Amino acid sequence: DLLPVILSGGSGTRLWPLSREAYPKQFLALAGELTMLQATWQRVAPIAGRPPLVVANEEHRFVAAEQLQQIGVQPLAILLEPVGRNTAPAIAVAALEATGGGDDPLLLVLPSDHVIADEAAFRAAVLRAVPAADAGKLVTFGIVPTGPETGYGYIKAASAGEVRAVDRFVEKPDADTAAGYVASGEYFWNSGMFLFKASRYLAELEAFHPAMLAASRTAWQQARRDADFTRLDKEAFTAVPSDSIDYAVMEKTADAVVVPLDAGWNDVGSWTALRDVSAQDADGNAHHGDVIAIDCRNTYAYGERLIALVGLDDVIVVETDDAVMVGRSDRMQEIKQVVARLKADA
Ligand code: GDD
Ligand code: MG
Repeated sequence: DLLPVILSGGSGTRLWPLSREAYPKQFLALAGELTMLQATWQRVAPIAGRPPLVVANEEHRFVAAEQLQQIGVQPLAILLEPVGRNTAPAIAVAALEATGGGDDPLLLVLPSDHVIADEAAFRAAVLRAVPAADAGKLVTFGIVPTGPETGYGYIKAASAGEVRAVDRFVEKPDADTAAGYVASGEYFWNSGMFLFKASRYLAELEAFHPAMLAASRTAWQQARRDADFTRLDKEAFTAVPSDSIDYAVMEKTADAVVVPLDAGWNDVGSWTALRDVSAQDADGNAHHGDVIAIDCRNTYAYGERLIALVGLDDVIVVETDDAVMVGRSDRMQEIKQVVARLKADA
């Protein structure tokens, strides 16, 4: 009995100026017809035992509900957070909701802002992981790393095979450590998707972070429910300590396993990543909208108005109603600095 839990609370500032606090990337159709939230549900729907639990920020309740309705999904619940407290509490309230009626389903925790090219391979990996999760393991899905990224969790497997015991889980190591891990050939990236029994997650949180579980439970028990939304209690949820599942549980648990995932996974953490997952012409250019490119290589342009590029290599151009971003494709992580500057000036 697989219950997808879709985490939709992130703010996605690395895709500025398109992705904004009011409209982060999970609600955008960046890599196809569907928004990333919609695509997250569609790729899992064939193996889901029930409609999803969605956990989102209060501010995004209408866009989340509307996008699910557009594709004909009636979620089990949309849990609304008054403030972001990162992923560990978000998953805790989902696990409490899932077990509230006495059930204990397998939770398939899914970020809502990833691209997966080979959906069948993704579903097959999830199904391979089910017996381990049924047996009480906390399953991660491991990606073979392509570089020393510091924005990921790193997983060292203790064995070979389709389901491997985890020797170590290290969230967001520094650059030197990450380079060592990648060079060793022994580490996977954590994909950020998880599979476990709801009760196992709650038990691990109780062991490692009892205050977080207690505060999350209060916020969930005191939630206000109507036909569309489950609003977590504001005062109680605001008091929940903030942490990610990776630090709060996965680095600490003795029961983690990793299932290798080779499915064209990409977390689309930058415009360059988006270029790389988009359909490209023979010169490596990928465009979204009305774009004319003359003698260009490896460019990406996104906009509503006509964009013309002449004689450019490795340049990204994004235009929206109120902002234009032009930058080198190897420096797109620095967009965070633009967003920080805007915040400081506001
Ligand atoms: N509901 C809710 N509330 N969702 C949240 C919150 C929150 O407070 N914070 C983040 N999310 C959602 C994001 O929208 C995203 O879909 C997912 O949870 C993961 O959060 P990120 O903030 O994107 O995490 P990360 O990218 O830094 O790290 C995670 O993903 C990496 C792979 O992309 C970790 O699991 C890493 O270990 C992993 O390598
Ligand atoms: Mg992420």
